[in-house]
Amino acid sequence: MSEAKDKLIEKYEALGENANTYLEGLYHSRPITYWDYIEVETLLSLQRPRTDFKDETIFIMYHQVTELLLKMLRHELEQVVEAEGVTEEFLLTKLSRMARYTKMLITSFDIMKDGMDHGDYNEFRKALTPASGFQSAQFRYIEILCTRLENLVNEPGRLRLGNDPGVEEYFEHIYWRDAGLDRETGKKTLTMKLFEEKYLASFIQLAKGAQGRTLEEKVMALGDPSPALIESLREFDRLYNVEWPQVHLRTAEHYLTGKGQVKAATGGSQWKKYLHPKFQQRKFFPGLWSEEERQQWGG
Ligand code: HEM
Repeated sequence: MSEAKDKLIEKYEALGENANTYLEGLYHSRPITYWDYIEVETLLSLQRPRTDFKDETIFIMYHQVTELLLKMLRHELEQVVEAEGVTEEFLLTKLSRMARYTKMLITSFDIMKDGMDHGDYNEFRKALTPASGFQSAQFRYIEILCTRLENLVNEPGRLRLGNDPGVEEYFEHIYWRDAGLDRETGKKTLTMKLFEEKYLASFIQLAKGAQGRTLEEKVMALGDPSPALIESLREFDRLYNVEWPQVHLRTAEHYLTGKGQVKAATGGSQWKKYLHPKFQQRKFFPGLWSEEERQQWGG
């Protein structure tokens, strides 16, 4: 006890503060509780459906669960980007956590496909237009922290890029603009317009700060990654950029196709093509895949 007290006194003295005042404060402080610490009540107050369809609450909550998992992924990635002199061991730990979070996303997605009433979903989704999961900023932050911007430009986009493009130019041609920008007329869907107004500046700022420090570049700096690290990187790339998009696409097909009809998505993209991994060919670590594997990306 006296050792703990001495350490506390030392701590406050180093801050130029009187330790006694802080210790006396403990007489009055309430014990911490689970509900305060986890902010349970705040968390459970965040579901505000816009219709009376019961399954809309499931839809909102599952998106919120996804955003929390994306935040866990981001949390790992931010540590990778900020760390100096990373080791293989550090990267392997981070990648194994990231793979685990992504597996949670993949294996739970059927809550969206089989956990809601088909007819009700197709009714309440009309009240959500033009909002779309496409507008998830965290999904874009993760891409920016994982890889160089040139890997986020698809093949037609690469042909449009000038020599030595800067960050802003990469964003003009980034793959996801294909979901809502008509490049011939310059016309954007409202989904895209609102998304860019809110977040584009923050994407550009993050990309500038992460230049030379993304996960991909941290691996490159190691020089000669071990087979175990290469395997972890490939696993994460496959989970995040093939398997997760595939379950997502299957869910979209479940609700938006049928009777020879293809319904419009709330975000207004040519979604069948846009969501299929083989069309975007999004890869965080393209150098780790053979030509044949690239050809077969997403099946
Ligand atoms: C019934 C469930 C869902 C359906 C039918 C669906 C459908 C779609 C469609 C059609 C798109 C293409 C953009 C558009 O035109 O709107 C899209 C994009 C997207 N959705 Fe979903 N979605 C569902 C659930 C989710 C969930 C739970 C999330 C989690 C946040 C999510 C996140 C995203 C993201 C991040 C994109 C952009 C993907 C990319 O750019 O590669 N979606 N979704």
